[in-house]
Amino acid sequence: MDLPNKRPDDMTRITTVELANKFIEEQVAIVREQVKDKKVLLALSGGVDSSVVAALLIKAIGKQLVCVHVNHGLMRKGESEQVVEVFKNQLDANLVYIDATDRFLDLLKDVAEPEKKRKIIGGEFIKVFDEEARKLEGISFLAQGTIYPDIIESDGVKAHHNVGGLPEDMQFELVEPVRLLYKDEVRVVGDALGLPKEMVYRQPFPGPGLGVRCLGAITRDRLHALREADAILREEFDKAGLAGKVWQYFISVPDFKSVGVRDGKRYEGWPAIMRAVNTTDAMTATIEEIPYSVLHKITARIITEVEGINRVVYDLTPKPIGTIEWE
Ligand code: XMP
Repeated sequence: MDLPNKRPDDMTRITTVELANKFIEEQVAIVREQVKDKKVLLALSGGVDSSVVAALLIKAIGKQLVCVHVNHGLMRKGESEQVVEVFKNQLDANLVYIDATDRFLDLLKDVAEPEKKRKIIGGEFIKVFDEEARKLEGISFLAQGTIYPDIIESDGVKAHHNVGGLPEDMQFELVEPVRLLYKDEVRVVGDALGLPKEMVYRQPFPGPGLGVRCLGAITRDRLHALREADAILREEFDKAGLAGKVWQYFISVPDFKSVGVRDGKRYEGWPAIMRAVNTTDAMTATIEEIPYSVLHKITARIITEVEGINRVVYDLTPKPIGTIEWE
């Protein structure tokens, strides 16, 4: 089935639940017509786009959709658990959950170079997904959370979802129900489908996950510290009402230590680097003015609650010249 590659000029922007429901109804009919009684495979990362596609397809074809969630061990705290909770427990989806943490972290051991780390994560993701897909029988379609900016900005393949790189003999016909939508419309549709707010309004998160924030060669203890510190930052931003106001905020942890003191003893630890930026297109970014009281609270919690961290710093560098991620 040939899917249109251009958004019609007169297509109404989906801004309300009513418009979203109309879109959902149309897509449910289109998907049923396309898929009939066949099976569809989806790599469900837990990001906004793939989650909305999953919910839409569950509505359209129920258990004919097989979702595969690969936990590469580089997810933020609680994210994989949420995917299982929402899709398996609440929406009763056909979900295959793969904990591939050891595979990824073993391969990444001692690899410090950013591009090499990315290649390993991307390559291994395809391998794991491919292995799982081969175990399943009768799959005819591959669903993807491609959205309109992906089509405008690239060759239409959602590169960071990685499934664009599946081997030659694993090519399927595509199901891409949100391919003509902008991100804000995908969120309205996700809302209308009843997905949890924190999933629908999730901030952007790189495909290689915490792998780009655990700087240098990843170790399990430093990755754990990063995940815990990041969870504290997110919790405190939520409490301070900053979650909806700041575009992206996270922690990076470099691979060096400095001297500190804890309980009267020398305490060497890593610094946690906070970053909170605003942007519209991620090409440039400005620094958000976070109240000092919030910064102090986050710092106090991280240095007392997170093993291995002994300093917290706030990165004030706009983009350019600093990229958003430290990597
Ligand atoms: P930089 O660091 O280049 O990041 O200023 C710009 C935005 O892109 C996000 N980012 C990614 N997003 N897959 C993604 O979907 C990736 O591999 C990736 N790497 C970086 C980054 O978080 C920021 O929002």
